[in-house]
Amino acid sequence: MNKILEKEHFSENVVKLVVEAPAIARSRKPGHFVIVRACENGERIPLTIADADTVKGTITLVVQNVGVSSGKICSLEPGESLTDVVGPLGQATHIEKVGTVVCCGGGVGVAPLLPIIKAMKEAGNKVITVLAARTKELIILEEQVRPYSDEVIIMTDDGSYGTKGLVTNGVESVINREKVDLVVTIGPAIMMKFVSLLTKKYDIPTMCSLNTIMVDGTGMCGACRVTVGGKTKFVCIDGPEFDAHQVDFDEMLMRLRSFN
Ligand code: FES
Repeated sequence: MNKILEKEHFSENVVKLVVEAPAIARSRKPGHFVIVRACENGERIPLTIADADTVKGTITLVVQNVGVSSGKICSLEPGESLTDVVGPLGQATHIEKVGTVVCCGGGVGVAPLLPIIKAMKEAGNKVITVLAARTKELIILEEQVRPYSDEVIIMTDDGSYGTKGLVTNGVESVINREKVDLVVTIGPAIMMKFVSLLTKKYDIPTMCSLNTIMVDGTGMCGACRVTVGGKTKFVCIDGPEFDAHQVDFDEMLMRLRSFN
């Protein structure tokens, strides 16, 4: 059992949970994720570790209420516990000093982006963060990304905060004014597809973190299968991060829809 110590509502459907998990807090690296169950017969939900505190022995998870199981996790209060938290899973992000890195996140994709922003900054990169959402209320973790970003650009579909437009407009405005050495994109598959198409046009290396359906998280069930560079990969053990220019996003979107 992993006790919930803190809870904060980022928006109506998105909550932050600080969860007791000392062993995971010690060993996790940016890019790692965990699989969580809210009850004994509960569905296994993959969640990226947004932050960790090795002294307090806690990890921070950001959960979006999109169905029965995630709704159950979102309804838990401090003092209650998750039945189990398995991890850290997946491959850690490759972090190095490359120059200027544009980190762009959409919706809850900003949660897995936060540890990467921190690590990229600590590695000596200039970090420009682009946060995007449909409306102002859905922009999350802005205060947390600011200390590690040389600049934060906010994009909203309806113009209720920052600049009106899509994440790709924000990224392209940076590309048009200065040299960008790497783009990191995390968010809905359709968003990552269009960021990838944009950066391909400018020949800028781009890394994405895929959010496929997962079941076992250990490479056995095949639920998270994607095609990268013409080869079959499992997001849970080979990812979750891949070269975005090599990912077959259309196939991934089709598989996500088939699960629906
Ligand atoms: Fe089962 Fe990846 S979640 S193979």
